Amino acid sequence: MIQADMSFREMMNYMGQVRIGIVGVGSNGRAFIDCYQKNEKARLVAVCDTDEGRLQAVANETSVQRATTDFNELVTYPDIDAVSVHTADAFHAPITIAALRHGKHVFVEKPLATKLEDCYDIIDVSDSTGLKVQVGLVLRFDPFFRGIKQMVEAGELGQVFYAEADYICNYLFQQDIREAIRSTYDIAFVNAGTHVFDLLRWYLGEPVEVQAYGNRGMSNWPQPELKDDLVCAIYKFASGAVVKVAATWAATCQLAGMEMCYNLSLFGSKASIVRDRIARVETGGEFEPLPLGRISGHPCDGEVDAFLDAIIEDKQPVVDAREGGNTSIGILAAMEALHQGKPVNIKTR
Ligand SMILES: NC(=O)c1ccc[n+]([C@@H]2O[C@H](COP(=O)([O-])OP(=O)(O)OC[C@H]3O[C@@H](n4cnc5c(N)ncnc54)[C@H](O)[C@@H]3O)[C@@H](O)[C@H]2O)c1
Repeated sequence: MIQADMSFREMMNYMGQVRIGIVGVGSNGRAFIDCYQKNEKARLVAVCDTDEGRLQAVANETSVQRATTDFNELVTYPDIDAVSVHTADAFHAPITIAALRHGKHVFVEKPLATKLEDCYDIIDVSDSTGLKVQVGLVLRFDPFFRGIKQMVEAGELGQVFYAEADYICNYLFQQDIREAIRSTYDIAFVNAGTHVFDLLRWYLGEPVEVQAYGNRGMSNWPQPELKDDLVCAIYKFASGAVVKVAATWAATCQLAGMEMCYNLSLFGSKASIVRDRIARVETGGEFEPLPLGRISGHPCDGEVDAFLDAIIEDKQPVVDAREGGNTSIGILAAMEALHQGKPVNIKTR
């Protein structure tokens, strides 16, 4: 808040900053608190979490002026410009819509939504208000995946006719993550499959149809029979490419993460990429290492910086509501196909 005793310089600094309210201060929310606090274009003003213990701990450790357990209250604060959403997946859409309706820009973690109609609503409200929405599809900020995007766009792979990527991991066997999976992450395909499907949409354009298969019962939550533990979807893209995406938390091994490059493979008429190697027709089809650097962890600092720049410079966010929304629409269409037991047309915006 601007105060009477602020120096001119302090006031100018303050006015150039985007004032942030964070909702959800679990492990991801805390990582973003660090990013916002490190970035001179941001000022952390308010925090929200339904867990009072977590909320209090963060309020004590930071210089935030307000802390609340109710996101409906946070979105009304007049002294915040943007809301950053890091809650359980099911709350991403209601918080995003409430924030937009109160005139706030929004950064929202993936998945944008867990219901198809919420994806369309968020795209519409973002279009009609002109407010910025950036979806946390962080792999687009990773130089490795950006490098592949440039190669695809430059035509180095030729016509890509088949591609696949997986989020196969063993989180159900990792004690520190198990509880967050039950309370926050829910279905692996909707939560984590979003990351890898987004890469394939980014590279290959829009999907038009999907069929999906899955099974249940590997996780021993209450009512395990209701949980889609493994989902494997086959997409037809407008380009003609066929694409396979699978996700589960229940494997006994890890194929997810940069070590395994999310098992990403792209097969084109001129070259194929399999994880971190490339084989080109013109050099005899032998695999060689991709000349792209890999980083460990997620480049959240870059994501936060891009979001702040989009607001300050009034430009389109790197992964806006339509981009993040169309990725969730493709994922949720696969869930519909799975539950209906038949192929589903995909209506991206
Ligand atoms: N982009 C990425 O790579 C990446 C990585 C990790 C997590 N995430 C996303 O971040 C989100 C949070 O994940 P996490 O690992 O921090 O989970 P977490 O369980 O550690 O934290 C979630 C927090 O949200 C709070 N919360 C839940 N519902 C709420 C509500 N309605 N209002 C206020 N607070 C609420 C919980 O009390 C908890 O403190 C998930 O949606 C996940 O998909 C993204």
